[in-house]
Amino acid sequence: MKKLIFAYFSDCSDPKDLLLAASIRKFGGSLSDYPIWVLIPKREENVANEMKNLFLLLNVDLIPFSTEDELKFPFITYVLAAANAEALAKEKTELLAWLGSNTIIFNEPKHFLLDNDKNLGYRPVHHTNIGSFYDEPIDPFWDLVYQKCNISKEQIFPMKTHVDHNKLRPYFNAGCLIIRPEKGLLQSWWNTYKELHNEKCIKDYYNKNYIYAIFIHQVILSGVILSTMERSELFELPFDYNYPLNLYYNCPFVYRAKDVNKLITVRYEDLGDLKKILIQDPLKSWLISQIDNFFLKTLSSAEKIKFGNVPLVYPVPIILAGAFFNNKPNFETLGDVGIMGIKPPLVYISSGQDHYTNQGILEHGTFSINFPTTQLLTKTDYCGVVSGKDVDKSQLFNVFYGELETAPMIRECPVNLECKVIKEFSIQHRQIFIAEIVQAYVSEDYVIKNEEGLGIADMVKLDPIIYALDNNYYKIGESIGTGYQESQKFKQD
Ligand SMILES: Cc1cc2nc3c(=O)[nH]c(=O)nc-3n(C[C@H](O)[C@H](O)[C@H](O)COP(=O)(O)O)c2cc1C
Repeated sequence: MKKLIFAYFSDCSDPKDLLLAASIRKFGGSLSDYPIWVLIPKREENVANEMKNLFLLLNVDLIPFSTEDELKFPFITYVLAAANAEALAKEKTELLAWLGSNTIIFNEPKHFLLDNDKNLGYRPVHHTNIGSFYDEPIDPFWDLVYQKCNISKEQIFPMKTHVDHNKLRPYFNAGCLIIRPEKGLLQSWWNTYKELHNEKCIKDYYNKNYIYAIFIHQVILSGVILSTMERSELFELPFDYNYPLNLYYNCPFVYRAKDVNKLITVRYEDLGDLKKILIQDPLKSWLISQIDNFFLKTLSSAEKIKFGNVPLVYPVPIILAGAFFNNKPNFETLGDVGIMGIKPPLVYISSGQDHYTNQGILEHGTFSINFPTTQLLTKTDYCGVVSGKDVDKSQLFNVFYGELETAPMIRECPVNLECKVIKEFSIQHRQIFIAEIVQAYVSEDYVIKNEEGLGIADMVKLDPIIYALDNNYYKIGESIGTGYQESQKFKQD
């Protein structure tokens, strides 16, 4: 008989699910070698993918379970998986830690090893949601669930939510339950949930507000716990268990975890949550390396889907091309721009034949390339949706001219390239201009002067607008290495 088994649900489609198992092995302390079960719906069982291999490398037992008919209701497969895990765990382990797959263990969760007189370790829900305030008369929804679960007033006690610290009637979080399998709590949860979620009186609530459908699994869990256990059997895990990192900044400062690294188990919504929070090394480096490792490995085994003949080149730098026409400067937004060579310094732009800018370029054989910062996003987008034919765009920016005198450049853009056309040709409705750079201009704030001469500020400071074929603009992230140097870390077997 084992002391404790960790178990969670995964359909093996998202590499994030590997983090929990990996973190148990790495940070679980004396519990790090305990068995880990991952419950997979049977229909996914035959999908051979790299994720399963990675689970096996972490010494995880993959446990397929039958999902009966097509189950389409929020969290229904999750509750069924929990009941299956519990059924299998009977006589194999004293305790089962049923966790949400978006859990990460940061430190040894020693309180998972419940005292002998406790039959359930739990945390309250993260925030109030559809919870019922303890000091207010019970609302009809909770009253209904209490009636269905035969709960009397005497069984109700106050519980404080994790983030907003409101005093609610018992409302248990379903993503961190330490149970004794022989008690059959998760099976009762499944039975009650299967029956109740379909009842008309309950369905009336979903029809009014879908939030009831999303959270009813936790309401029913709360009903089942109260109806099957005495309060003395319950153990509220400390505040640093099941800590919601995704709500870190929603939590009033006084209640917020002061040292994230000291938390025991955490929950997150997406990997971005982990980046936003002040996690320190060694945990930080470990998380980054795990995420890279899992994602690269799983991506390398993913099936390729034909996407059609789309020029999926990304990211796309967004520039403002400037030209002089009808005695005024004009600017158009372009993504189709690039370097053709360094020596000689050649660039190209591709601009629709009927664009107003083209006429200026053709007349003078000159144009400019200006790199707007994200501060200039609205004006930049504007230059891409209106034409100089209809709207005067000459007053939008502070303009200056260089040696060519006919290539208007934008002072607000940190970098400007003054270009002289050396070749022009048309392809279908586009005109391609190949040009030599006559001069590059960089605003003083972005120039670094050192012994080796002039340098340019990093991309984060330059803050260019990036575009992609999903029609979204993006901002630059952080530097991840040095050009022509990173290869030194590459070791081939
Ligand atoms: C994000 C974005 C990218 C664009 N990229 C290009 C491009 O690469 N080539 C092009 O011909 N037009 C592009 N356009 C459209 C032109 O900027 C738009 O037709 C503009 O109104 C032309 O202005 P003009 O007639 O004053 O020259 C883009 C527009 C946006 C918003």
